[in-house]
Amino acid sequence: MTSPSKGPARGLDGVVAAQTRLSHVDGQAGELIIGGYQLRELAGRVSFEEAAHLLWCGALPSQSELAALRREMSGIRALPEETMRVVRAATKTPPIDALRMACATLSLDLPNPDDISPAADTQAAKLLTARFPTVVAAHARLSAGKEPIAPRADLSLAANFLYMVHGTEPDPSAARAIDTYWVTVIDHGMNASTFTARVIASTRSDMVSAVTGAIGALKGPLHGGAPGPVLDMLQDIKSADRTEPWVRNELAAGRRIMGFGHRVYKVRDPRADVLSKAADALASAGKDTLANRKLFDLARSAEQTILTVLEEVKPGRNLRTNVEFYTALLLQAVGLEPRSFVATFACGRVAGWCAHVIEQHAEDHLIRPQSEYVGPRNLKVGE
Ligand code: ACO
Repeated sequence: MTSPSKGPARGLDGVVAAQTRLSHVDGQAGELIIGGYQLRELAGRVSFEEAAHLLWCGALPSQSELAALRREMSGIRALPEETMRVVRAATKTPPIDALRMACATLSLDLPNPDDISPAADTQAAKLLTARFPTVVAAHARLSAGKEPIAPRADLSLAANFLYMVHGTEPDPSAARAIDTYWVTVIDHGMNASTFTARVIASTRSDMVSAVTGAIGALKGPLHGGAPGPVLDMLQDIKSADRTEPWVRNELAAGRRIMGFGHRVYKVRDPRADVLSKAADALASAGKDTLANRKLFDLARSAEQTILTVLEEVKPGRNLRTNVEFYTALLLQAVGLEPRSFVATFACGRVAGWCAHVIEQHAEDHLIRPQSEYVGPRNLKVGE
């Protein structure tokens, strides 16, 4: 059998597939630019709703634009009956699958789901972004044998999400942490799910179809990431002095250390910096402070030891802390179950997917790469 080409375009590595004004990842400098701003300039300083406006409309909103956006999005958080029926039917499936199924039903609630004009796309973007947290929270409760909680319009998207998950108004530090997390993961260059959304949109297909496809791409373990296993790892390590033998043993067994390494970043992922600060702040505030602080302190010291051992055992591979390491700490500290982590990520990334669909519809050019045929030729039937 002929093996596939190992040429430069394998997996489209290094191929520029689109021009975008939405985000830029510089893996050598460790920079992430979102809508013209460095991530560190935005995260913790603007709300998720403001960051979504930045991507959908090209600029941060004025006070009145933000108030209008908040009013509009908080009025459409509740799920229609058809969507809730799907969520109820999907309690045995992983949250990310339930989200994909529920997302597909949301076009039922759009006046003209096939309208791909900028105005219709923006309306769909607001609807999807407003409702994703409601789906994830309802699914989390139903899976735990509890009834879903109706959204509250007076809370921010992040605070309302935690309210719908836990049934009590969240500590402001927890709501702030989720808000910072969603801003941090809102967009990230031409990753697999964003590319999927753009390919679907490039056929002039609609926003809901593109975002449903993107969720399918995010679900895969090579993309949705590893925050759950990071927690398992820290629980296994237990105390700082056990880190070094633990890591050496894992590497000797040929296993990878979760939360380290990245295809693009060859220095520390800038999202890890932002999320480590957010997780640190959270560990000093809110409920379960002691347990969270102990886990955070263990993570901080384990991170340093792991980096040192990786450099020694895997020299030159530039394996640095990635976004998943502190995501795990942050999401567990706000009381989310590891099985909901990927779907919670999607609640932030959906705003970026929608922005890419808007951009791709404006570009209006079919994405249609070629393939290299490596199979046999001139076979004869019956021979
Ligand atoms: N632990 C130990 N060794 C590693 C790790 C790791 N986390 N990551 C890469 N390596 C090693 C590989 O074993 C390989 O070693 P070799 O040269 O001796 O064969 C070398 O580094 C290069 O590995 P690749 O697989 O070519 O690196 P790639 O850039 O394709 O991998 C990936 C990126 C998948 C993220 C990888 O670093 C990994 O598996 N990390 C752990 C899982 C994880 O944290 N995933 C979340 C990533 S963040 C995100 O995508 C949203």
